[in-house]
Amino acid sequence: MFRSELCMIGLLCALRFAWASSCPPGCECSEAALTVKCVSKDLREIPTGIPGYTRNLFITGNHISHIGPESFQGLDNVTNLSLSNNRISEVKSHAFSSMRSLRSLDLSNNQLALIHPEAFAVQGSMLRELNLSRALYNHSSVIDLATSLCRSRLGDLLVLDLSSNGLVYLPPGIFSHLVSLQRLQLANNSIVVILNGTFAGLDHLQELDLTHNALRTLRDEALQELEHLRTVRLHLAENPFTCICDIEPFAEWLNTSRALVVDVESLACVFPIELQNTSLLMVGELELGCHRAGETDNLALQTSYVFLGIVLGFVGLMFLFVLYLNRRGIKKRIYDMRDACREVWEGYHYRYEIDSDPRLSQISTTADV
Ligand SMILES: *[C@@H]1O[C@H](CO)[C@@H](O)[C@H](O)[C@H]1NC(C)=O
Ligand SMILES: *[C@@H]1O[C@H](CO)[C@@H](O)[C@H](O)[C@H]1NC(C)=O
Ligand SMILES: *[C@@H]1O[C@H](CO)[C@@H](O)[C@H](O)[C@H]1NC(C)=O
Ligand SMILES: *[C@@H]1O[C@H](CO)[C@@H](O)[C@H](O)[C@H]1NC(C)=O
Ligand SMILES: *[C@@H]1O[C@H](CO)[C@@H](O)[C@H](O)[C@H]1NC(C)=O
Ligand SMILES: *[C@@H]1O[C@H](CO)[C@@H](O)[C@H](O)[C@H]1NC(C)=O
Ligand SMILES: *[C@@H]1O[C@H](CO)[C@@H](O)[C@H](O)[C@H]1NC(C)=O
Ligand SMILES: *[C@@H]1O[C@H](CO)[C@@H](O)[C@H](O)[C@H]1NC(C)=O
Repeated sequence: MFRSELCMIGLLCALRFAWASSCPPGCECSEAALTVKCVSKDLREIPTGIPGYTRNLFITGNHISHIGPESFQGLDNVTNLSLSNNRISEVKSHAFSSMRSLRSLDLSNNQLALIHPEAFAVQGSMLRELNLSRALYNHSSVIDLATSLCRSRLGDLLVLDLSSNGLVYLPPGIFSHLVSLQRLQLANNSIVVILNGTFAGLDHLQELDLTHNALRTLRDEALQELEHLRTVRLHLAENPFTCICDIEPFAEWLNTSRALVVDVESLACVFPIELQNTSLLMVGELELGCHRAGETDNLALQTSYVFLGIVLGFVGLMFLFVLYLNRRGIKKRIYDMRDACREVWEGYHYRYEIDSDPRLSQISTTADV
């Protein structure tokens, strides 16, 4: 009896020891919740010995600088992985390839400078959500990211968060392989222009957030790009819209596609100062004093040039006609003139010859007298 109790206690101790030892130092493991958390423990790399049952893995607020395929061996049950706030600067190719069940990956608040081409590739990937909010070191990383998004085969991805990354523009085709994407978060960047092909391939997009960027207007190219996203709910508030001539096509487009832009009522001119807070829906009724006025001015100028040309042409023709009519008289006058010239010349010549001979000149003066 006493021995079996001891044995029981020993077994419990052994079990407890085994349970405790299967949780890496600095982490909290909960088998019941299938969750492991290693939060703000100054870890330098992904700890080893994370239990195989783990579904939800949080390794956040540490100082992990890079992750690669060796980081997550044997964790094929993990569905949610958060690596936010870690100062991660490098993600190697196939870093997550052992996590075959991964659905949600949070890399927000890192400093990714090197993203290898197949960084997010997982055989038969079921990744649904990728959070790269405030994750890129600077705008230059977007080129790496574009390559990686194309080559990692994320055909099931539904949500991509790229907010707060200082992005200036998006390379055309960056999302072209994300064929299932439904929500694209691009808020709080510095996007100045949307190029042809930026949103190519996003046939199932439902929500696109472009608030808090650096868009002054949307040109025809951008409007066509957005037209292709038929079912999207677009957010555009808090951009420095500049109400000068070239905003007119955009303002007209807003007026005709209100359903598309959910925050259309709150879009307003930011520059120039006189038009600040004027709704973009009112722009069509304003006298911007450029586009149409400029056109009519141009037209008037062109008309006057044409008119001047016609008048000059007519005058020229009249002149030629008069010349033609007077051709005899003119010929006669020319002959007359030639004769006169000849007489003058001969007279001059004669006088010169006389002048050059003192004797003759004397004769001539006496003759004159
Ligand atoms: C994943 O979970 C299943 C049961 O849900 C379990 O049988 C399997 O051993 C787990 N995988 C690992 C690597 O522990
Ligand atoms: C895991 O991620 C999914 C989204 O893919 C989310 O709905 C769920 O709440 C997450 N679970 C935990 C425990 O974070
Ligand atoms: C991504 O992470 C940030 C901060 O870590 C959070 O605010 C945001 O809601 C997340 N995005 C999504 C789509 O869950
Ligand atoms: C981004 O950072 C890298 C490395 O420091 C630097 O070479 C590059 O010029 C930076 N790019 C931008 C746009 O600041
Ligand atoms: C916007 O992004 C910057 C970094 O680019 C960040 O410091 C700031 O907190 C973000 N603002 C919001 C409201 O998310
Ligand atoms: C955009 O690109 C496509 C093909 O790449 C081309 O057919 C189309 O004319 C371009 N549109 C504009 C506005 O440049
Ligand atoms: C525009 O609105 C903002 C905030 O509502 C306000 O601070 C600003 O003074 C307004 N500007 C003008 C010209 O009315
Ligand atoms: C917006 O469109 C309506 C007709 O759809 C038109 O009556 C109205 O004048 C337009 N407003 C502006 C500002 O262009």
